Amino acid sequence: MWINIDKKSDRPLMRQLYDQIKHLILDGRLAPTEKLPSTRQLAADLGISRSTILNAYNQLIAEGYLQGNHGSGTVVASGIDVFSIPPEISVKKRQATVAAKNQPATAVIDFQSGVIDSSQFPLSEWKKAYQRSLDQVPEAAFRYHPSAGVLSLRQTIADYLRRTRGLACDPDQIMIVSGSTQGLALISALFHDQQQAVLIEDPTHPGLRKIIERSKLNLIGIAVDDQGLVTDLLAPQPAPAFIYTTPSHQYPLGGILPIQRRQKLIQYAIANDAYLLEDDYDSEFRFEGQPVSSLYELSPDRVIYLGTFSKILTPAIRLGYLILPKPLIAPYLELKKYSDVHTEALTQYALAEFIDSGGLEKHIWKMKKIYAKKRQHLIDELSRCYPDKFEIKGHAAGLHMVVHFNGIVFDAPQINRINSRQVRVYPINNYVFGNKTPYCSDILLGYAHLTFAEITTGITRLCTALRQPES
Ligand SMILES: Cc1ncc(COP(=O)(O)O)c(C=O)c1O
Repeated sequence: MWINIDKKSDRPLMRQLYDQIKHLILDGRLAPTEKLPSTRQLAADLGISRSTILNAYNQLIAEGYLQGNHGSGTVVASGIDVFSIPPEISVKKRQATVAAKNQPATAVIDFQSGVIDSSQFPLSEWKKAYQRSLDQVPEAAFRYHPSAGVLSLRQTIADYLRRTRGLACDPDQIMIVSGSTQGLALISALFHDQQQAVLIEDPTHPGLRKIIERSKLNLIGIAVDDQGLVTDLLAPQPAPAFIYTTPSHQYPLGGILPIQRRQKLIQYAIANDAYLLEDDYDSEFRFEGQPVSSLYELSPDRVIYLGTFSKILTPAIRLGYLILPKPLIAPYLELKKYSDVHTEALTQYALAEFIDSGGLEKHIWKMKKIYAKKRQHLIDELSRCYPDKFEIKGHAAGLHMVVHFNGIVFDAPQINRINSRQVRVYPINNYVFGNKTPYCSDILLGYAHLTFAEITTGITRLCTALRQPES
């Protein structure tokens, strides 16, 4: 296997190995069922640690490129078409410090989804970055800006994505928006006149669904399983304007869309002249390996990529971005211009400075460890309170998890019983708009914002309510 590792590069060794094996598979140079060298052999050949090789293999297994067979080693998975993806580009340097603060506990323990641990916001580093950026900005920073956003932030985001996601795009394609919420609203408005269908994962985020509905587009739900969108259910008609998907971490169920389904999705989009809207809302927080690769890198002409700083930093700054295929840029800019001219600019300069100084990556690194511990604590508490009667759905990632409780139905009386114990949980059926039956026993538990003690109290209260006889 021809692998070339550059130990002097500031690109992590694991990422270099992962990318090269992926390219070998997608280019057809590694064929289906072909056996990969053992981790021991490859470690010796490349002069790097076995754990680096193992991490790269595990990442590729999670994304469907490889299959790990006990005893017989690791082989290339079947069903992957030969495909060509854009090459990698280099990175910028980083360094920074972070500050922390505590937050009081609340009486009601609310396992709400997607709320960050704001007690860990790197306030002093952010203040310094904001101050530095204000000291450096040109006078023109206090005037109106282009609708696409502040150029330095767009360049910084392009570098950040290359470095952390292996995603190559031109800063001219990056459009700064006020959170992914606005990004989705503008994309929906862009297709509004065409009165076309939009395909959306089911279950999905109800707020995002509402945004598309408000544009009077005809929404069609496509079922999801433990591997994300079920691409076999994509029907040829009616041809949609776009397909909304969360391939790195399906929201809310947590599946990773494997490469075989990604390719089917892209083929479907090409055949129907549709766009794919990739909502990459929390892919940085993957606890079992590296962030999953984007759908965008497989088909930059077909994919509209939606990114946000809400989960990795704070939703309060309301900053997100779109990466647009070139034909959409002009109509998008017109829409944005007549919507709000541009997203607030001074915070954009500050965010660029914060990312360039390494503050964001350091914060993500720190939060990844904290969220992984909270997730494990939640699982430990469930095992303590409700042994053998629950299953975790989805991959170990993000700020929430979905739990299936054997034999429990989360109907209105059950939820009332739980609420009366001063705890809030969220039935998955709140996120489903088609067939609700498969999800009756599933709830969503957001854990990121809760302390360890709150998680313990919340799970104890939940399990007490579940054991309470129905009155
Ligand atoms: C799947 C998903 N996409 C997008 C968003 C919205 O993020 P933003 O704050 O950037 O509007 C959320 C928020 O919770 C989300 O869960």
